Amino acid sequence: MSFYICSNCGYGSGSWIGKCPDCGQWNTLKQQQEFSSEKHASQTFSSTSLAKVKTYAKKRLSTGTFEFDRVLGGGFIPGSVTLITGEPGIGKSTLLLQILGKINTLYVSGEEGAEQVKDRVTRLKINEKKFYFSNTQQIEAIIKGIKNEVDNYQIIVIDSIQTVYSTKVDGVAGSVSQLKEVTAQLISFAKKAEIPIILVGHITKEGEIAGPKTLEHMVDTVISFEGEKISHFRILRATKNRFGSTDEIGIFEMSGRGLIEVKNPLAFLQDTKTIAPGMAVVGVIEGKRPLFFEIQTLISPTILAFPRRVVKGIDYNKILLLLAVIRKYFGFPLDRYDIYLNVVGGVSIKSTAAELGIIASLISSFKNKSLKKNSLFIGEIGLLGETRKVIFEEKIITEGRRLGFKNIYSSRNTKNIKELKNIFIV
Ligand code: TYD
Ligand code: MG
Repeated sequence: MSFYICSNCGYGSGSWIGKCPDCGQWNTLKQQQEFSSEKHASQTFSSTSLAKVKTYAKKRLSTGTFEFDRVLGGGFIPGSVTLITGEPGIGKSTLLLQILGKINTLYVSGEEGAEQVKDRVTRLKINEKKFYFSNTQQIEAIIKGIKNEVDNYQIIVIDSIQTVYSTKVDGVAGSVSQLKEVTAQLISFAKKAEIPIILVGHITKEGEIAGPKTLEHMVDTVISFEGEKISHFRILRATKNRFGSTDEIGIFEMSGRGLIEVKNPLAFLQDTKTIAPGMAVVGVIEGKRPLFFEIQTLISPTILAFPRRVVKGIDYNKILLLLAVIRKYFGFPLDRYDIYLNVVGGVSIKSTAAELGIIASLISSFKNKSLKKNSLFIGEIGLLGETRKVIFEEKIITEGRRLGFKNIYSSRNTKNIKELKNIFIV
């Protein structure tokens, strides 16, 4: 018996179909043998005491860029494969060129030509001597070539994995079957040669079908590079890390001189002096670092049957939940209002510690009254309207005080959101 697999999206079917029902591509279903004729190599069982195993911890390859190393957990592990994902144009190539300027790097790019890369390296004043460039796109040729000169390099970059293809499988470069095959070959090569490899992968906001999502379980580390293109800030987050934690984030700012590391915890606050209805500052912790963000809310009467809810930078469902809590405990008729909520700086906040501040910002906008100057909010909100203590709350409070926030609201002094009633000024 045979079956059919779509070479674009991996959809499986018992019979041949002209158009893939899943991704809508024509003529992509290819016949597969149910049992692969390829024999697996036979193995002999062996085991080792963990006490005798040497770790790679000491061999981490540091980039020297603190914000990047922090996210990795200290540097690249030999033989590890790291996938860096992000929307096109967000700055992945720029970031890699900048952080690898001190490391002997082979830069394989199917996206840009040698001249383009050289231009950027020169303009950003990066040490070009550290880079070797190749625009070979066939994986078998790339690996064969690297094998001969692997000692020249400390790291290999494939920019992007969507432009590389293998002759062993069908489908155009970037299709799921190609992505899987190419990545599998690179992983196996990285392990054998004990060299770290970085794969660049484009994703769209919607998370396109043949995107690098399918690769996430194959590689060791997945790092996403996020931010709104209209904003300068970029956040680097490990969403998977076999060699470190996934708590830490790295912050960068895109400037005329490329990406600059951001160390100031107040960098996201554009203007701490002005206050206006609907604006609240929240304190959260990312990894081990307290950070402060400004939430802006606009609530205005709706003319629609279904009022608008436009949310940027916070999980949409979380906002719906917080709105339900406000409706219940404050009795505001929110169904008659459009609500727009935004995190200033075009970044997204994942931490639950922002919830108390989001509520304060919503109430402030609804009442059209400002919060007191130098107010800071830290706290998670329960369904009963109670404020919960967040992890490292003391640390955020201490840092907040040091930075000049005088009115700090948290689970310490605000047990329930009802207590927010009187903290507004006209
Ligand atoms: P790029 O690294 O090419 O993005 P990606 O590899 O993720 O597709 O970055 C592209 C954007 O970055 C480009 O639109 C312009 C901007 N940029 C700057 O603002 N300043 C700079 O110094 C550089 C190099 C790029
Ligand atoms: Mg690029």
